[in-house]
Amino acid sequence: SKMADIPGPQASLIFGNLYDILPDPLNQVRNLFRKFGPIIKLATVGPPGVWIADPKDVEIVAEETETFWKRVTGGLAEIKPVGGQGLFTSNTDDPDWILGHKLLIPAFAPKAIRAYSHEMGSLANKTLLVFKEISDSGEKVLINRWMTNFTFETIGKTGFGYDFGLLDSKDAPIHPFITSMAFCLQEGITRARSFKIYKTLPLAANYRYDRELKSMHKIVEEVIKIRKQEIANNQEVPKDFLTYMLTAKMDGKGMNDSLIRDQVMTFLIAGHETTSNTLCWALFEIDRHPNIHKAILQEIVNVGISDDVITDKQVAGLHYIECVLKETLRCHAPVRQIAKLSRRDTNLFGGKYSIPSHTTTVIAIDALHYNPDVFENPDVFDPDRWLPENESKRSVYSWMPFSIGARGCIGRQFAMQEAKIGLAVFLRKFKFTTVDPEAVSYDPGAATTSPINMWMYITPQINL
Ligand code: HEM
Repeated sequence: SKMADIPGPQASLIFGNLYDILPDPLNQVRNLFRKFGPIIKLATVGPPGVWIADPKDVEIVAEETETFWKRVTGGLAEIKPVGGQGLFTSNTDDPDWILGHKLLIPAFAPKAIRAYSHEMGSLANKTLLVFKEISDSGEKVLINRWMTNFTFETIGKTGFGYDFGLLDSKDAPIHPFITSMAFCLQEGITRARSFKIYKTLPLAANYRYDRELKSMHKIVEEVIKIRKQEIANNQEVPKDFLTYMLTAKMDGKGMNDSLIRDQVMTFLIAGHETTSNTLCWALFEIDRHPNIHKAILQEIVNVGISDDVITDKQVAGLHYIECVLKETLRCHAPVRQIAKLSRRDTNLFGGKYSIPSHTTTVIAIDALHYNPDVFENPDVFDPDRWLPENESKRSVYSWMPFSIGARGCIGRQFAMQEAKIGLAVFLRKFKFTTVDPEAVSYDPGAATTSPINMWMYITPQINL
């Protein structure tokens, strides 16, 4: 059959299906898949696209092939000014993506990432001091703030040797860079949901956007300038991504300063909110599931974590925490969907539907994770799904929080290692109790699945 035969809600003349997925995109998309099945036709922006939540279709679409690829369009194009020519916001055939990918793949390999575990562990220990202050004060806190401060400092430090000062105390001021980044990303979403002309109008928001972007660039460019001088003078320099990027070459070719700046900006965009959300939702689920909490505390004891900085060997022993994180990423995928474009006429759903060239094809990551044919009782939070004997029964295309292949998340190992370290170190010392679990929801206006109303009390962990 033709693409027109793919099931889906009726599109309206002006807005297409936009209001079939707004104002509550997470639940509305999940419900559409419940109603229409694992392949749906939706016109959210522009011509109709295909949304898929079946591992067999995901397998065809997810990797970069002659048939499907990632293109920087739609919402992603609105992040492009911030990510620039960095890996996340450049096309697969862009020479800058090809060069950046080749040079950065080794820097993000598991072995290279292990070199950052001491830094991550030190920052987790520093966060404990803030938690102690909060615990002593008895105040409830929005947990996102602290998880984001931890992830931002981690990527700032390992990315370009920068200390934003966010973990200095519970009342540490918010660094202007963080405010600028939050503004530009939020404005990107507003732009994506507005008519094209919006961003060309002389509005205060548009002037502010340009100003904030410039001030972020200035900070990163200054760090790059200083680092280059230090390297030139043979001074001792941090072993971070920045030093790596300034010295790495492939066939004699390296990245220029503006591309390196864009990569640093990209790591900051891609690396803080996603990992922070994962930690928040993990703490939330652990609080709701005392048995899981108990098993985690047991694992922390078993691997022998102490007040010293966590070691590589201890991190490697956190198998159960890894299962908890994988289940968190299934139930609360920070990136709920990604888009690919068909490069030629093709077909999907076992050849049942023909898909024309240039069709936006959306991998509905969240809906895939809630597909009952893939995950039995998908609403149940169950880390045991990730025991090796259970995981190996499923297609690798049934769990896509990081996407896969050449355009999959380059920071996957980094994020998992950071989240494991954060959880183990935080839970060894403190208990995180959600004030009102019923009030917790996700932010429908954010690009990622960010929790809202996730107020928590932080109290000493007395069971260890
Ligand atoms: C790409 C998810 C953490 C850097 C992606 C993509 C997803 C994703 C789904 C594919 C996007 C697309 O197809 O458009 C996540 C999640 C994370 C996480 C769920 C945390 C739990 C990180 C971290 C970093 C990072 C910590 C950097 C330190 C990147 C980059 C890309 C990417 C550079 C683009 C890769 C390319 O196309 O060459 N991520 N990410 N991510 N991610 Fe992550």
